[in-house]
Amino acid sequence: MFPDLTRDDVFRLETRRLWLRWPCAADAAAIVDLAGDRAVSEMTARIPHPLDRSTVDGFVVKARWTNTEGRSLVMAIAPRGRPQSLIGIVSIEPDPGAAGPHLGYWLGAPHWGRGLGTEAVGALVEAYFAYTPGQTLTSAARVENAASRRVLQKCGFARTDGVIGVRPRFG
Ligand SMILES: CC(C)(COP(=O)(O)OP(=O)(O)OC[C@H]1O[C@@H](n2cnc3c(N)ncnc32)[C@H](O)[C@@H]1OP(=O)(O)O)[C@@H](O)C(=O)NCCC(=O)NCCS
Repeated sequence: MFPDLTRDDVFRLETRRLWLRWPCAADAAAIVDLAGDRAVSEMTARIPHPLDRSTVDGFVVKARWTNTEGRSLVMAIAPRGRPQSLIGIVSIEPDPGAAGPHLGYWLGAPHWGRGLGTEAVGALVEAYFAYTPGQTLTSAARVENAASRRVLQKCGFARTDGVIGVRPRFG
């Protein structure tokens, strides 16, 4: 799915306030801490609660492996001024049977409400359409997850059945 450019862990996406970079082993403690928060995990389909260190270590290894193969692009979200710090994850992964690959994301609760989710998601969505020939991305947000639904809307996703969003290539 993804080209050689993104398959090396030097690949970065820069936004006004963030770096998106590959996750690494040193991020595991921050992921356990931030994604281990029920306020984050209960809004996602894929983060177990409670979240233990070995699960997170496995996530990081798998993310780096599938990034290397170009099957996914799983990126750590880090502040521009502290690129080693992880404050969230944004990812695009294959979703066989769906209209297109799946966009997933979370941000640690201390970082909510400042537009950072929209900034990170927007950057990865634009990279997907810039660097791959893909025509469509899909995502999903719980009906009660107004912030996530708004992020998807702001990043060009259209609602299909209440929970699934689809973002076509524009132009
Ligand atoms: C979804 C998430 C990434 C949003 O991150 P964020 O940085 O707080 O979001 P932003 O600040 O970029 O924007 C959120 C938008 O939703 C709006 N919003 C936030 N909370 C809201 C609420 N309770 N009701 C309605 N709108 C809300 C904001 O006003 C903003 O819209 P605006 O720019 O038009 O004002 C973050 O809340 C999160 O990680 N949640 C837990 C995990 C999750 O839900 N992941 C997505 C799974 S589908």
